[in-house]
Amino acid sequence: MTKVLFLCLGNICRSPTAEAVFRAKVAHRGLERLFSIDSAGTSDWHIGSPPDNRSAAAAKERGISMEGLTARQLEPADFDRFDYIWAMDKTNLRDAEALQPASSKARLELFMSYATDWPNEVPDPYYGGNQGFERVLDMLEDASDCFLDKSMKTSA
Ligand code: 4NP
Repeated sequence: MTKVLFLCLGNICRSPTAEAVFRAKVAHRGLERLFSIDSAGTSDWHIGSPPDNRSAAAAKERGISMEGLTARQLEPADFDRFDYIWAMDKTNLRDAEALQPASSKARLELFMSYATDWPNEVPDPYYGGNQGFERVLDMLEDASDCFLDKSMKTSA
């Protein structure tokens, strides 16, 4: 079982979208039993809130459900609980690195490092228009497919 945590700032736009996209891709490949999937934010700003309506609507258009997700903040135990902590941007990555205990074996990475044709950071769509939410989905779908293609190849 590979345990993955998606990380952004608020845990209401990018990382819950990443969680839902990755879950859908894993289910499509019939790999549910191989992955445990979660998301969190570096900030405490939106703890307890559902995903942003714009993220949820854009995902739903693609047949991806974000229902039932609730924002939470990254916590110390996450560094022992997860194999991968996948940051959406470099600020999230640096913030997580600063909190990682020496004993933690979690791999902290930019999730977009798995994708080939996109920038390394998922831009924060919070203050922009609908186009931003579509781009977030395009990026996360591609990185998810790339990671899963790669991990299936290495485990075959
Ligand atoms: P996220 O987006 O980090 O992708 O969830 C944001 C959500 C809220 C805020 C910023 C980014 N905010 O400023 O409240």
